[in-house]
Amino acid sequence: MAKLAVCVSALLLMLVVLSETRRPVPCCTENYDGIIKLKYLKNFAVQLDTGICNINSTIFFTEKNKLICTDPKKPWVIRAMKHLKNRAL
Ligand SMILES: *[C@@H]1O[C@H](CO)[C@@H](O)[C@H](O)[C@H]1NC(C)=O
Repeated sequence: MAKLAVCVSALLLMLVVLSETRRPVPCCTENYDGIIKLKYLKNFAVQLDTGICNINSTIFFTEKNKLICTDPKKPWVIRAMKHLKNRAL
């Protein structure tokens, strides 16, 4: 019985994780021009201009759960992406 409970809670956790990661990423139509400090960034996603969204963008997720579209060519954006990738490993 205890085993079943563990199994069910593991399944629930998985569902939560899945729905978290499946959350649709919004479409960036304009990139933010400023710089955001690394310590405010939690994660990022990449948007290419090949889809319905017409610009290339690196979307940062901040600790306040905001999404910020930035220019993937900017040096600070490239540095921040590398930093977040390393942290995720
Ligand atoms: C967007 O990125 C793709 C792939 O990296 C590149 O081929 C394309 O030229 C870029 N478009 C713009 C507008 O920078």
